[in-house]
Amino acid sequence: LAKIEVNLAEIPEGKSVTFKWRGKPLFIRHRTPEEIATEKAVPLESLRDPQTDEQRAQDPKFLVVIGVCTHLGCVPVANAGDFGGYYCPCHGSHYDASGRIRKGPAPLNLEVPPHTYTDNLLIVG
Ligand code: FES
Repeated sequence: LAKIEVNLAEIPEGKSVTFKWRGKPLFIRHRTPEEIATEKAVPLESLRDPQTDEQRAQDPKFLVVIGVCTHLGCVPVANAGDFGGYYCPCHGSHYDASGRIRKGPAPLNLEVPPHTYTDNLLIVG
């Protein structure tokens, strides 16, 4: 399927739910106010792949990323690692709650796929 629709009301705050999109895992995370505040405060110059949280999450409440580690393609684990976002156990890459690489061998942030919002629906693709 080229596009998927996700009912955001089904994703509780604090949870990252995994969907499948174009054969890949897709993580949709309903971020807490604390996570949003933390990610917005991260200095750009401290990032390996510098992107602001605003560039990554057009609706700050939700993070939408492809669940494929940018190192060698393993699937990271949600709500784990030193930065509370995602952790890839294959070689130890730590991503924050904006999906940005913070520590470990991965070179790039988790990819944000094209997506739009309509009312309570998220459309990815
Ligand atoms: Fe994720 Fe190597 S594939 S750290």
